[in-house]
Amino acid sequence: MYPTDSRVLRAELLSFDADPGEGDTPAEGSVRHIKDGALWVENGRIRAVDHFERLAPTFPAGLEVIDHRGKLIMPGFIDSHVHYVQLEIMASFGRQLLDWLNEYTFPEECRFANHEHAEAISHAFLDEMLKVGTTTAQVFCSSHPVSVDAFFSASRRRDLRMLAGKVLMDRHAPKVLTDDTQGGIRDTERLIADWHGKGRLGYSLTPRFAPTSSRAQLDATGGLMRNDPSLWLQTHLAENTGELDWVAELFPESRDYLAVYEQSGLVGPRSTFAHGVHLDQQMRGRLAERGANLAFCPSSNLFLGSGLFDRLAAREVGLNITYASDVGAGTDLSGLATLKAAYQVGQLRSQPLTAWQGFHGLTLGNARALSLDDQIGRLAPGMEADFVVLDPAATPLLARRTARSHSLSETLFAVMLLGDDRTVAETWAGGHRQHVRHAHG
Ligand code: GUN
Ligand code: ZN
Repeated sequence: MYPTDSRVLRAELLSFDADPGEGDTPAEGSVRHIKDGALWVENGRIRAVDHFERLAPTFPAGLEVIDHRGKLIMPGFIDSHVHYVQLEIMASFGRQLLDWLNEYTFPEECRFANHEHAEAISHAFLDEMLKVGTTTAQVFCSSHPVSVDAFFSASRRRDLRMLAGKVLMDRHAPKVLTDDTQGGIRDTERLIADWHGKGRLGYSLTPRFAPTSSRAQLDATGGLMRNDPSLWLQTHLAENTGELDWVAELFPESRDYLAVYEQSGLVGPRSTFAHGVHLDQQMRGRLAERGANLAFCPSSNLFLGSGLFDRLAAREVGLNITYASDVGAGTDLSGLATLKAAYQVGQLRSQPLTAWQGFHGLTLGNARALSLDDQIGRLAPGMEADFVVLDPAATPLLARRTARSHSLSETLFAVMLLGDDRTVAETWAGGHRQHVRHAHG
């Protein structure tokens, strides 16, 4: 046998080198597609990618070749905004954001003071993510440091690239979930020291949203960001009109919602603002100037009745958009379901999402906007070996539909609209197969 941890997958390969644009035909040079390809994985990274016939003569004797002809391999999907601690309150009925937080979310997050519970849900969450082909996510934990320790340690055991952080809240939440201002910052510093940059893990500063943080807490978070520009930041922005009114009342000195974050120095190239449904063009421009990204969470926006995200208005000013499930408000962890909902929201705004744009978003687009594109998001030599093996004929219905398609774009669109966890044949992360779908008939 060839002596290293090395193997080749033979399949159709699809990866993006650049944004494909909004057209039916992707921009020149943006798509890398190989019908009969070889993906050579070695010691956790991609060693080579090419046409199978071209690469095969270079294989050492005994190198394992896994035959996935008929399947389509893409880089692992990325979810830019998700709350692992809300896994078990998905599908909680009938409320919009602020009532939903008080009635379902805060009581649920209280459970994460318990380490065993946090550990069990971390593993359940990661199992579900891998089942749907997601290999990286930016994750909200709860305000309990143990919820972060549990999540990072579960991710590390599986060698996953994950960003996560402890929720910071020092007001307007149940007492057991609120920090005293300095204590929350000290806990955050301890978690950064223990986890940031360890293996494939990164720390994302996590003030929940403006209403649950005092100005002092937001300022202290900005201080941490300035001290270490390698940290990420995640929060919520302009999701719901009731939230907007509340923020205006709490921060009368700020000219708008975004200004609350700007004044504490929280808007930068590693900052993700979830939602941004209710922004004007001027605020979008200010986010774009700083290189921040908006996480578009379409299934959550539909579920909570938050509104219809204006994707093209954001693109018009060069603002980075990422794609996210926002579970537990989101109704599905699957990136395919996120794209399907994004397409539906887009149709209601006369801006339908092409499959090119969607799959670029889930892979290279999200990786770039999160500053992770030197490690993940493409099938290319040197990249970390995180990828998903999709089966475009996974179900009888999908097989019927894709058998009739005349182009890759049509097949991708069918997978985006009709696909689900059954479409994910395998998920690989860190060079290892971490999920295999077992057909249950
Ligand atoms: N805004 C503040 N907290 C949350 C949350 O947990 N979920 C969503 N969707 N919006 C929020
Ligand atoms: Zn959220």
